[in-house]
Amino acid sequence: MPSSYTWLEYFTWSKQYGDIIHVEVLGKHMLILNSLEAAVELCQKRSHAYSDRPLMAMVELMGWDINLGTMPYGPLWRKHRRSFHRSFGGSTIKSYVSLQTREVRRMMRRLLSTPEDFFQHIRLTFAATFMQVTYGIEVKGPDDRYVIAVEGGVRGFAEAAVPGAYFVDTIPILKYLPVWFPGATFVRKAQEWRKQLHVFLNEPFVVVKNGMASGTAVSSVCRTALEKVSGSGEDEFITKNTCAMAFAAGSNTTVSTIQAFFLAMVLHPEIQTKAQEQIDNVVGRDRLPDFADRVRLPYVEAIVKETFRWQPVLPMGVAHQTTADDEYKGYHIPKGATVMVNAWSILNDETAYSDPFTYNPERFLNDGQIDRNVRDPEVAAFGFGRRICPGRHIAVDGAFITIASILAAFDISHTIDEYGNRIEVEVRMTPGLLSYPEPFKCSIQPRSGAIPSMIQQSIDGDFQD
Ligand code: HEM
Repeated sequence: MPSSYTWLEYFTWSKQYGDIIHVEVLGKHMLILNSLEAAVELCQKRSHAYSDRPLMAMVELMGWDINLGTMPYGPLWRKHRRSFHRSFGGSTIKSYVSLQTREVRRMMRRLLSTPEDFFQHIRLTFAATFMQVTYGIEVKGPDDRYVIAVEGGVRGFAEAAVPGAYFVDTIPILKYLPVWFPGATFVRKAQEWRKQLHVFLNEPFVVVKNGMASGTAVSSVCRTALEKVSGSGEDEFITKNTCAMAFAAGSNTTVSTIQAFFLAMVLHPEIQTKAQEQIDNVVGRDRLPDFADRVRLPYVEAIVKETFRWQPVLPMGVAHQTTADDEYKGYHIPKGATVMVNAWSILNDETAYSDPFTYNPERFLNDGQIDRNVRDPEVAAFGFGRRICPGRHIAVDGAFITIASILAAFDISHTIDEYGNRIEVEVRMTPGLLSYPEPFKCSIQPRSGAIPSMIQQSIDGDFQD
């Protein structure tokens, strides 16, 4: 079994063996689906039997079994899912656009003073947005206690949640090994990650509860949810878990899309120029774009779609598991089989996207408007069926406002070294469950002398900073 960049290996296998691959590892059946057709048929249309998650002993050992994303399919998952939907469903998220816009403007101010730290600024922006939306708590800098905890915790989770990454997943009884036992490094790692989870799971929640008791809690997903709950222990438990997972997922996913967008702009200046022309025509050059401009910015919308397609943050999605025996195209699929969808394969399917490895937003346009006949990357990038990403609406909104704002205000290009030579960039993504661009250098310059004051005024005028 490949252990890193699995999506590339499975993509190659699919060319040899077909779009459904079956492997058996130590008696465990694993199915890898490489086409949209198979993924939709099994994980979506038959989602009543394909919505469980494989048991991950390492994830449990870390205390992350409170995560909606890895919870077994059943009543407790359903309650968490409902709670998540109430806070991040299609209509609710409209109330977060102002916070999202404000955090993007703050990021732009940071980009003006330290553009070389753009990777960190992007991370901080999403952590700050989700801390604010979820708990109403301000994050001021990258050294924030919650930001450090969530980044460390999610890094550990992403390592542990790759099926088969730890031997303890195959032999769960190993989780009872004591810390001091020779070879029990995984137990020590799990303890470390558990501590980080503890910080961002419990502490902001307590801040909101205390704030509610003293009448000082500002509006947030957590406060609203707590106001509505019956006061039962289970309701509070669910609210605490869903809030922490919204903060964790929100801080660590769209980040990759925005970093990939910067990379694409360095590599394709002509695309950047066309997008800026559209923004200048629609928005003008004396204000920054906002959500109301969205429908009139199809080129920007196409960039958002192409970036989700080009470098998916979860190239292998999150593994599903079957809860009943099934049959598909003459194959027997046993109950308890792990089913993984290779989103990367689907997003690089040349029957849907010609020249798929090339970054080309115009594939989504026809006569300057979004072409609804072209497969929307959202159909694969956010997963399938009952387990589909419940944060997808806020994620797409976040990507739009960030990309539109950056394009309006900055020119992104290659950096130049001290001898006047261009520093080349390479498209290299990290392996693992969550995939990010490897760090790279680029130049980020305001498009005009008016930009710094426009950014500052937009923060002062629209939002009290
Ligand atoms: C670029 C942004 C994002 C991408 C590409 C993405 C993608 C995904 C994918 C592929 C899954 C697995 C779906 C499946 O099992 O079929 C998932 C699950 C999930 N996502 Fe996202 N996601 C993003 C952002 C977010 C955000 C912002 C949030 C929170 C606000 C979020 C919360 C979740 C949760 C809670 C689950 C687990 C759902 C379950 O198991 O029932 N995601 N996401």
